[in-house]
Amino acid sequence: MTKKILILPGDGIGQEIIGEAVKLIKHLQTHYDLQVETEEALIGGTAYDATGKPLPKETLELAKQADAVLLGAVGGYQWEELDIAVRPEKGLLGLRAGLGLFANLRPAILYPQLADASTLKPEVVAGLDIMIVRELTGGIYFGQPRGIRELENGEQEGFNTLVYKESEIQRIANVAFDIARKRDSRVCSVDKANVLECTELWRNTVMGLHERNQDIELSHMYVDNAAMQLVRDPKQFDVMVTTNMFGDILSDAAAMLTGSIGMLPSASLNESGQGMYEPIHGSAPDIAGQNIANPLATLLSVAMMLRYSLDESELADKIEQAVSDVLDDGLRTADIYSDGMQKVSTTEMGAAVIDKL
Ligand code: IPM
Ligand code: MG
Repeated sequence: MTKKILILPGDGIGQEIIGEAVKLIKHLQTHYDLQVETEEALIGGTAYDATGKPLPKETLELAKQADAVLLGAVGGYQWEELDIAVRPEKGLLGLRAGLGLFANLRPAILYPQLADASTLKPEVVAGLDIMIVRELTGGIYFGQPRGIRELENGEQEGFNTLVYKESEIQRIANVAFDIARKRDSRVCSVDKANVLECTELWRNTVMGLHERNQDIELSHMYVDNAAMQLVRDPKQFDVMVTTNMFGDILSDAAAMLTGSIGMLPSASLNESGQGMYEPIHGSAPDIAGQNIANPLATLLSVAMMLRYSLDESELADKIEQAVSDVLDDGLRTADIYSDGMQKVSTTEMGAAVIDKL
């Protein structure tokens, strides 16, 4: 049956990197008989400019009907002064919430060819393969009440709420256990249980669930220590599972271990396996429109989409192999460039990956 993919380029370099992904998908349709239909819609600042909303109703409807969503990035300087309710980021958060995408999988894998591109010593990062499982539709990102209010003395006060229900913790911990089972069977749950009651419940709930997952080795770490351990000895981790905000922060740190945030894809899944796929880097407005952004995280996001939502693991493997092959050939976009390599543009990198297929 033909599956539907909704494509949301978004803002900044989103347009350019998604352009390469679209070419890749076309190639798979023509040469590998991939049965998909694609449609494009607006999100983020681009959507705001066109419709006054960062997530137009039509986009959310199309997303709900799609088997998978492929997103570029949202955000940019020109929208930073907007009211927070209509900022580009709200479009992304609305899509996550609207589709119930509670499980965010962020792999941090170091391609051996890029060991020198990491700011850490090669021996610390060589062979790195971590999966961060970030809770994506709850926690302080969505908790109520929230806002900025004026106190009686005229001073302003900002407030947000960190809140998790047991059921929300259980379903994300279950995803982490399931993923670990297909890897090295180790889960480290990250919290701040020494200070925050909400994450004390997180820790207790994960421990409770572990009783039914005894084949998995479970450990717990406070988030400050986890941040330190990630840069000290990242290879100690297999799967990390954590809250929305801690996962946001730790996944950027983990990404940098791999040399460039421009290399890392992500998947966000809901309870029915429907998914949204996006590179974990942002819209990089500073380099937008210059044809220098790294499209590999987006092409690898297409691979994740094929694997998790389209039941095409073989094609996913092929794309991942093609990416590895172009790195073997010494092709590098600016973000992963080092001496002696061949510097290429966004479009050249995209074409090289397709060539390898
Ligand atoms: C991410 C981003 C988003 C987040 C922003 C753009 C809302 O940083 O996907 O990590 O904070 O979740
Ligand atoms: Mg982030």
